[in-house]
Amino acid sequence: MIHDPNKVYIFDTTLRDGEQVPGCQLDTKQKIEIAKALELLGVDVIEAGFPISSPGDFQSVVELSKAIKNPTICALTRAIKGDIDVAAESLKYAKHPRIHTGIGSSDMHIKYKFNSTREQILERAVEAVKYAKKFVEDVEFYAEDAGRADNEFLAQMIEAVIAAGATVVNIPDTNGYCLPDQYGSKILYLKENVKNIDQAIISVHCHNDLGLATANSIAGVINGARQIECTINGIGERAGNTALEEVSMILKTHSLGLHTGINSKHFTELSGMVSRMMHMPVQPNKAIVGKNAFAHSSGIHQDGFLKHRENYEIINPEDVGLNSADIILTARSGRHALKHHLERLDYDIDKINIDDVYERFLVLADEKKDITDDDLLYLMSDGETESYKNGYKLNLLQVVCGDQVKPVANIKLQYEGVVKEAKAEGNGPVDATINAIVSIIDKDITLKEFTIQAMHGGSDDVSKVNMKVDYEGKSFVGFGFSTDIVKASANAYLDAINKFL
Ligand code: KIV
Ligand code: ZN
Repeated sequence: MIHDPNKVYIFDTTLRDGEQVPGCQLDTKQKIEIAKALELLGVDVIEAGFPISSPGDFQSVVELSKAIKNPTICALTRAIKGDIDVAAESLKYAKHPRIHTGIGSSDMHIKYKFNSTREQILERAVEAVKYAKKFVEDVEFYAEDAGRADNEFLAQMIEAVIAAGATVVNIPDTNGYCLPDQYGSKILYLKENVKNIDQAIISVHCHNDLGLATANSIAGVINGARQIECTINGIGERAGNTALEEVSMILKTHSLGLHTGINSKHFTELSGMVSRMMHMPVQPNKAIVGKNAFAHSSGIHQDGFLKHRENYEIINPEDVGLNSADIILTARSGRHALKHHLERLDYDIDKINIDDVYERFLVLADEKKDITDDDLLYLMSDGETESYKNGYKLNLLQVVCGDQVKPVANIKLQYEGVVKEAKAEGNGPVDATINAIVSIIDKDITLKEFTIQAMHGGSDDVSKVNMKVDYEGKSFVGFGFSTDIVKASANAYLDAINKFL
């Protein structure tokens, strides 16, 4: 097969190394769902499981082999014939099957895991590859703990397994031990010292114990590796594996002359899917897919971002499947950020006394960690001075209601300095209030939507009222807040009509 020398193959092991994490186990149906999403994402290889480890894993590899068309389906084994037999059986429906076999390569593993010698391990490695070759053409060999292995012995092992037929040679930093420079040099050493290295693809498989998995993988490809083994959200044993989304975006963002077949627009959705199914929350500051990865919160950054987004944005959030970057309102936000959000909520900034609103915003932001849209609407609807509001204002509201009387509302509205009063009946206190307002405004307005919502719960709570009205073929939305639901409703109605009057 002819390989594009600049293509970096993406080998996803979310369903094998990722799924080894306690509590992350998936059933076959869930694995198929994730595998189909990985296929859509454009990964080249899906490591579907370790078939000898359990009947469930075996069955998952069988079902994924049937369900997936384009990516290679890979099954893991130890360098043991029985493992390889079972893996081959599980892959019999795969359109592109691969057996991933291997053995320890560091002296530590050779001595304390296998109680063996370099010579014996080398022999087992070669035998395993030759045996796997009887079943499939595509055999990947992993030299476990290669990160801590002696480079000379590692090169000898890699040369021998390529001669035995390995198509891909995986150089795992199993314990996440290496520094990027060391790991990169190791790959370069193999490139320069393994005679037949051009007959195989070098693969990097890095763990994140020192937080270096992504950096090490990139150092590996810079030095000649052309496959990265990784997982969605970087999940995996202990501190996890290399995060697929991170390495893909690094290769997309930097001009290294390398590319992948990944469509990054699926990252956000796939990250959420894996996190939900595996019960593994994504840390908020996780690169690319964390909740805060595109959220700007300090005043200086927000101002610079709003002037020119590339001041503080190296990735377009749309490229990873998000609608837009977030400007988070906190006590450190400036007027610029506040205006940005008020405009987003359809407020006409020219009609607002922004200094007054900003002062009240800072008081609220000091009390609360995050300011939500509801908080802003509350701020805009319940001002002490209301000097920033135009249009009709409620000066008085008195309502009589109960189970023994016909509801009646008496109101006073102020408009451009003039106060008008009205009284009306209705089938309830809100209906009576709206009828009284309409009798003053005297326009053909239709109330289309009306919802009341408690902000936090409890009978002393502030309620939020949301109303949509139609006027001359257009819809306008208004919000009102109060501990009194009738007052909140009157304010919501006035907020909507003040948008067109
Ligand atoms: O980390 C590792 O060495 C592995 C191998 C089994 C590939 O996951
Ligand atoms: Zn691993």
